[in-house]
Amino acid sequence: MKLPGCNLPGIMVVVFVMLSINSTSAVTKFNVLNFGAKPNGRTYSTDGFLKAWNAACGSADSSFIYVPKGRYLVGSLQFKGKCRSPGIIIRIDGTIVAPLDYGVLGKSRNWFSFEGVTGVSIIGAGAFDAKGPSLWACKASNSNSCPSGATTLSFTNSNNIRINGLMSLNSQMFHIVINGCKNVHIQGVKIIAAGDSPNTDGIHVQLSTDVEILKTSIKTGDDCISIGPGTKNLWVEQVTCGPGHGISIGSLAKDLKEDGVQNVTMKRTTFSNTQNGLRIKSWARPSTGFVEGVRFTDSVMRNVQNPIVIDQNYCPRNENCPGQVSGVKIKDIIYTDIRGTSSTPVAIKFDCSTKNPCTGIKLQNVNLTYLKKAAQSFCSNVVGKAVDLVRPDSCL
Ligand SMILES: *[C@@H]1O[C@H](CO)[C@@H](O)[C@H](O)[C@H]1NC(C)=O
Ligand SMILES: *[C@@H]1O[C@H](CO)[C@@H](O)[C@H](O)[C@H]1NC(C)=O
Repeated sequence: MKLPGCNLPGIMVVVFVMLSINSTSAVTKFNVLNFGAKPNGRTYSTDGFLKAWNAACGSADSSFIYVPKGRYLVGSLQFKGKCRSPGIIIRIDGTIVAPLDYGVLGKSRNWFSFEGVTGVSIIGAGAFDAKGPSLWACKASNSNSCPSGATTLSFTNSNNIRINGLMSLNSQMFHIVINGCKNVHIQGVKIIAAGDSPNTDGIHVQLSTDVEILKTSIKTGDDCISIGPGTKNLWVEQVTCGPGHGISIGSLAKDLKEDGVQNVTMKRTTFSNTQNGLRIKSWARPSTGFVEGVRFTDSVMRNVQNPIVIDQNYCPRNENCPGQVSGVKIKDIIYTDIRGTSSTPVAIKFDCSTKNPCTGIKLQNVNLTYLKKAAQSFCSNVVGKAVDLVRPDSCL
């Protein structure tokens, strides 16, 4: 196989950055326009993007892929490691647009998919516009013939990933998926889709360790951030959610054999008009899964249907779980400084498994109201304590 970087185009520019007197590291720049991409929004630029990636990936130096301002029509793309380049920065200042026909992306799982890469940063003031509304309309008309749709930006089995700035607009399915990754930093991202758009989760994390999501705004139709099995050391700070379904650990217990979720911190989160605020959710099914060590601190709820909720009896339409209970063990979950308004009378709901009661649940400084009055709390199979002020009165 020929290394893509061996046949270097003449337009390539090499920039040397002096790091110190004794060490020099080179960064090679690749502008997608030099690989055939067209910023007119009409000509397919898929090949140009792939060629720029192949050149950057095959470079012996750190590389920098530049997507200047303009609109780029791009179909689905896979960016694969193992790259020779020790690190790749992709700076997107333009808008990447999906084909209008949803079927083109819709038959792929992902639009931009990074697989097995290390040290990739995607930064810039640009956007991904997945043109989701026509697929959402297809799904709303209940047609079985609609494809499920593509995730806009997906990272699988990758390490040392950064996503900074950028906007994701109107995804067909999830906006961003982090699956099987280690050391991921997401900051300053804007995610936008309609409040009634189906399955448009903002950021989904699973089977991943050391993930940070900071200063990010997520308006969408499904979960703001969804956290799947095998998530460890997740830090979320200064994230705003709404519309959408709020932050959810789960659904868990989809499978019998499942990894746990552990060591999750959610700090300074704001929820506006969402279905849930801080949720942990599992199917009422046997599973080896667990949730352990979660700190929810400093959260504002504005008109949220279920501000604090643990639901271990998830079984929509009573299908695939009748008469079963959740095997997921939920332990050491702390809620501190949670305040604001619930749009339903029950502001705190702990509906845990009869087989595995939730333990070590702590509420501290919680003040949630409903229509300017006291709200209610609901407890089932839960052990824990309330400290300092807790409104509604805790049932722990
Ligand atoms: C928990 O995760 C945070 C990062 O989110 C990390 O700094 C901390 O060391 C982890 N704690 C344990 C006990 O692993
Ligand atoms: C709880 O919040 C309500 C509404 O914001 C406020 O009026 C009330 O004073 C708060 N209660 C306490 C005890 O802080």
